[in-house]
Amino acid sequence: MAEQYVKDVCKRLPKLELHAHLNGSISSSTMRKLVERYRQTLKQSSSDFSVTHGWTTTIHKGNKRTLKECFAMFKIIHTVVCDEEAVTMVARDVVCDFAADGIIYLELRSTPRCNPSTGMTKISYIEAVWKGVEQAVAESNFSIDVRLLLSIDRSRGAADALDTVELAKEYRKSSPTNVVGIDFSGNPEVGNVRELLPALKYAKESGLKVSIHLAEVPDVNNETSLLLSLPPDRIGHGTFLLPSNGGTIENMELVTNYKIPIELCLTSNVKCHTVPSYDQHQFGFWINRAHPIVICTDDKGIFSTTLSEEYQVTAQTFGLSISDIRELSKQAVDYVFDEDLKTKLREKLESDGIKSRPH
Ligand code: IMP
Ligand code: ZN
Repeated sequence: MAEQYVKDVCKRLPKLELHAHLNGSISSSTMRKLVERYRQTLKQSSSDFSVTHGWTTTIHKGNKRTLKECFAMFKIIHTVVCDEEAVTMVARDVVCDFAADGIIYLELRSTPRCNPSTGMTKISYIEAVWKGVEQAVAESNFSIDVRLLLSIDRSRGAADALDTVELAKEYRKSSPTNVVGIDFSGNPEVGNVRELLPALKYAKESGLKVSIHLAEVPDVNNETSLLLSLPPDRIGHGTFLLPSNGGTIENMELVTNYKIPIELCLTSNVKCHTVPSYDQHQFGFWINRAHPIVICTDDKGIFSTTLSEEYQVTAQTFGLSISDIRELSKQAVDYVFDEDLKTKLREKLESDGIKSRPH
């Protein structure tokens, strides 16, 4: 199929994004606004590391970075996203970007963060995120439903993890923020999973949905089996789960027997070197097994991608037909964390799909 044709189909296709980190999804134009604001409003010195290196927070086409370098980028981003106003601007812009790319349902995840120097608290952070989401939904010409996952950063320890779960419980109860679950993420080379597991168990017992980044790096089979014991409602990446890639048969059987949906982020994995090339991505394995999978962006700002491009590169790499592509976006509805929206989303996909179907 011609590249342009697949590109157009993927762009027009109504899509669901289930794995997007707020601060990794900032476009370069929003990043420019943030750096300028940081310089001007907050009167930071231009020799400040975060300001002078503001532009290194995107990995452009053809470039790659190590996982360590990717995590260094988050430090820079967090420096400029330092108060509620910046958080709201980021959430608004990111939701608008996704809506313009044809996303009809977005599960946005973010780590509640306090900043004593600006007075931002975890609570004001969450509320600032939701304020930005509401602004985008009201302003956008496109129709998009947004739900939030609060992220546990595995590098921050057990007390912080428990605190995040408590916040998620609170915000789910007092609903205006539409928190539906917990994400477990952060630098996979840092943190002790055994210590963090009770917080994740507590989240599950509390009825929160849980998505877990696991087997993102090699040689973590023990940690992976601990995390699979929950079991998670969805898995992020799972790159090194397969026995052919250093994983264990037991862990892989758990994932397949429980049919745990896997969020696959091809460009993220290729750009961070955890997968050597698109054609060697584990997508090929799982699709052949008819295992539940969903294509996602992870950090569209850092990896300079869009969900349309992720569908396009997946289709072209693995020879998918137009109906395969449609089926992938349709199946994603089965894995969303807001059960109450599934019927609406299916109807929307069906009617939008008819409108956008190529002649
Ligand atoms: P935030 O939670 O909105 O601040 O988004 C950035 C954060 O998401 C990072 O600091 C990490 O904790 C997490 N994150 C983003 N991408 C990845 C990934 O690929 N693996 C693990 N954690 C990630
Ligand atoms: Zn991620």
